Amino acid sequence: MIFQGDLIIDFLIGVILMDFLIEFLLFTFVPAYIVSFFLINWDDRSQLLRKTYRICLASAILSALVGNLITLFKFGPNLLLALVFSVIFSLIIKSIYLKRIPLGQIRELSKLEQGKLLLEINDLKVYYPLVGGVLKRQIGAVKAVDGVTLNIKTGDTLGLVGESGCGKSTLAKAILGLVDIKEGEINFNEIKVDKDEYSSFLRQKIQIVFQDPDASLNPRMKVVDIISEPLKNLLGITKKTELRKHVLRLLEEVSLKKEHLDRYPHEFSGGQKQRIIIARALACNPELIILDEPTSALDVSVQAQILNLLKDLQRTYGYGFLFITHNLSVVNHIADQVAVMYLGRIVEIGTKKQIFAKPTHPYTQALLRSRIRVDPDSKDIKFVIDGEVPSPIAPPPGCHFNPRCVSDARTKECEFEVPHQMKIEEGHYIWCVNPPVLKSISEQE
Ligand SMILES: Nc1ncnc2c1ncn2[C@@H]1O[C@H](COP(=O)(O)OP(=O)(O)OP(=O)(O)O)[C@@H](O)[C@H]1O
Ligand code: SF4
Ligand SMILES: [Mg+2]
Repeated sequence: MIFQGDLIIDFLIGVILMDFLIEFLLFTFVPAYIVSFFLINWDDRSQLLRKTYRICLASAILSALVGNLITLFKFGPNLLLALVFSVIFSLIIKSIYLKRIPLGQIRELSKLEQGKLLLEINDLKVYYPLVGGVLKRQIGAVKAVDGVTLNIKTGDTLGLVGESGCGKSTLAKAILGLVDIKEGEINFNEIKVDKDEYSSFLRQKIQIVFQDPDASLNPRMKVVDIISEPLKNLLGITKKTELRKHVLRLLEEVSLKKEHLDRYPHEFSGGQKQRIIIARALACNPELIILDEPTSALDVSVQAQILNLLKDLQRTYGYGFLFITHNLSVVNHIADQVAVMYLGRIVEIGTKKQIFAKPTHPYTQALLRSRIRVDPDSKDIKFVIDGEVPSPIAPPPGCHFNPRCVSDARTKECEFEVPHQMKIEEGHYIWCVNPPVLKSISEQE
């Protein structure tokens, strides 16, 4: 009988606990979580919060507990109380979290320390999966970036050149956390760049300017709103007067004026639109700016203005630039270092002087010889690289450039051996299977 009595008591305690648990979970915790979720993700500034589920959880648990505790003293239905408390707690916790983020901090624009290592890319591989078949399974991969290593310092411009499709923009996307990294790593200011954990600090400090200004500007927004967006979302400035003040300062940086503040993008020329985009990129005081063919949609004189503007801004504030382009003259104008890319790999890297005066890799030599020169006596383009760029889905084994290489250094080994790094001189490296056959510039012509 005693045994049975214990059982009944245990059973009753279990029923009460179960009842409490169901009530706690279904009628208080879950609704409180839903309300907290909406309130916490309500406004623009919620973008600044990381891992919002933790705030929602904290708010929902607190609301459900307090709601249930008060119900014990018979104050009324716990669902309603839980909802009321979830509003109170989520707003309080959100404001505490927001206060901990250094909002509204505009760096008084001072020059960045020069020569500081900003970006470090080590053996980076980015493959785009190719899916096919009825089951949409992965059947291959586009090896867009296939083992790239490079560094960028503050105050320096690295010019990245290479034929269309060699992976330049994919490299930029990897730095911006827009694509999955297959192997290798990217470090910015010693912070690992990870697509899934791309912090608001990285979004502030790394900016991009794309080739097509029309595609980068929302035609329905005024310039003031376009440039205010990063100020609001990344720096948490919400006061309208503050925003206009900062936007005006940024417009002045790029030689635009007060009267441009309330205009729409279609009221500007191509060069002016690119200036607006540069102003937007400068809004959060970046340290690294990626320029993906920023001048190729502009005519030559406007190109020069934008390049000079970029150089001036770099001289004043010490930004690091990754300048992506097909145009070797532009690289010659703006870059300090030049990296030549071919089918996902860097084939030569060096200072601008080393690359232009002493191009050593057969591909760089061919690229420099392929420059179209205005020759009044001849309509022919003297040299173009033979053949098509091979597919990055199935690149040629060994040296990717081997089917098109016309160098005297080319041997049978190039067809199966992976090129290795060779030092030409301090800061000047090529990736080749065989030592280069050095020729003077006139011999190469
Ligand atoms: N989302 C994607 N899915 C699959 N393949 C892609 C994707 N984006 C790019 N690629 C492929 O990856 C390779 C590299 O593309 P990427 O845009 O990086 O080249 P790029 O050097 O910037 O070329 P361009 O100079 O023409 O802009 C190309 O073969 C391209 O077709
Ligand atoms: S590895 Fe061989 S094929 Fe490739 S660039 Fe060097 S010499 Fe030419
Ligand atoms: Mg591109």
